[in-house]
Amino acid sequence: MKDIDDLKAMNAQNLWHPMGHPGEMQKNAPTIIDTAEGVTITDIDGHTVVDAVGGLWCANLGYSNDVVKQAIADQLFKLPYYSAFAGTSNAPAIEASENIVNFFKPDGMARVFFTSGGSDSVDTAMRMARQYHRLRGQPQRTKFLSLKKGYHGTHFGGASVNGNNRFRIGYEPLLPGCFHLPSPYAYRNPFNETDPAKLAQLIAQAMEDEIIFQDASTIAAFIMEPIQGAGGVIVPDATLMPLLRDICTRHGILFIADEVICGFGRTGDWSGSRHWGVQPDMMTIAKGVTSAYFPVGACLFSEKMAEVFETNQSGEASIWHGYTYSAHPVGMAAVNACLSETVKADLKTNASERGTQLFEGVQKLMDEFDIIGNVRGGHGLMTGIELVNDRANKTPLDMADIKRIHKATYDAGTMVRIGGNNLLMSPPLTLTAADVDTILASLRTGLSAA
Ligand SMILES: Cc1ncc(COP(=O)(O)O)c(C=O)c1O
Repeated sequence: MKDIDDLKAMNAQNLWHPMGHPGEMQKNAPTIIDTAEGVTITDIDGHTVVDAVGGLWCANLGYSNDVVKQAIADQLFKLPYYSAFAGTSNAPAIEASENIVNFFKPDGMARVFFTSGGSDSVDTAMRMARQYHRLRGQPQRTKFLSLKKGYHGTHFGGASVNGNNRFRIGYEPLLPGCFHLPSPYAYRNPFNETDPAKLAQLIAQAMEDEIIFQDASTIAAFIMEPIQGAGGVIVPDATLMPLLRDICTRHGILFIADEVICGFGRTGDWSGSRHWGVQPDMMTIAKGVTSAYFPVGACLFSEKMAEVFETNQSGEASIWHGYTYSAHPVGMAAVNACLSETVKADLKTNASERGTQLFEGVQKLMDEFDIIGNVRGGHGLMTGIELVNDRANKTPLDMADIKRIHKATYDAGTMVRIGGNNLLMSPPLTLTAADVDTILASLRTGLSAA
């Protein structure tokens, strides 16, 4: 193992990081995280902080769950890998499929297809949507609708339905036939509508309008996050998801709930769909499914979709889609252990309680700091702080100031994430009340540094 000085010298010299400028990162090297314990991470210089990012909205169980670690280690020694392509399976995958389907049964899910992460899962859902319509004699249903500000990963399908141009422009042209509706972002929107319920109505009208314009018979599916995460923790009005679900049902458009962040308790319920009382046709999951101890994702399907595939006698119903690591035995062992640990710890209840504490604490900081333009959250452990130069004009705070706040918050004891002009928080769902106090105290110090 190289020593600390060597590691620092080589930091970002050979490694291109996701979501960063390679040249810039060579000049301003990233923090090297060395160890983690509970809800804290420690960098290579020995500085320990509360991880209010939860890895990347994913370390739901925190970093010290020995049951999950042991299950992974045991499986590595028993069967480190075998393919799940047609012809072979493995015991942990059979068990994981039953566990996952049962977990999401209240959401109307009946079958699961495993992947290696969220982007894989979104592309799986998009491909399966097209195949589903083809099997039902509607091959012209190929288009997709989604929401601006949504994040659905970076594969070509997911990037095409993504609602933030940062992930799109450099990679265009993307998939043709993808159309975007306004985000339920009450703080800024083209309607200038600050009432979330009225905004939900306007978005529903925009969807109806777009469906008429495209012709419903050409649209395969609509995808949305129950709460938009990476876009800035944008919490819709409770009416939005049911309204859009209803429109999709009326027009024969499949409804995909992207639960990659929201699933497994983050919203205060076991799924974001359940949080808003909606049953989708498909769900995409990742992150919390293994609490990031192993890269796993999945796409889930309703009984209605399962029936169409399973009862079709033609070769057209074969799934010519999959990944080398679909149903990877070690990943599946992680899923099984993680799921039972997640339920045992009742993470959703803690997410709800600590989420409220964090949200209310950050709202109070608004009284102290004019640079806080908008605070979003209050539904589980997802909180966003939008930073502005000027509250009246909502001018985004300069990036140099945001970076200074970020660093000062880190130095004061908490890792938060920068997303545009937002500070985003999605800590492990095992967080304690004292950890929330630490986060709030660090933020106060950080915000004072602007
Ligand atoms: C809602 C949502 N969908 C999809 C993805 C993509 O997942 P991955 O980064 O595992 O490919 C993410 C990642 O953050 C996400 O937040």
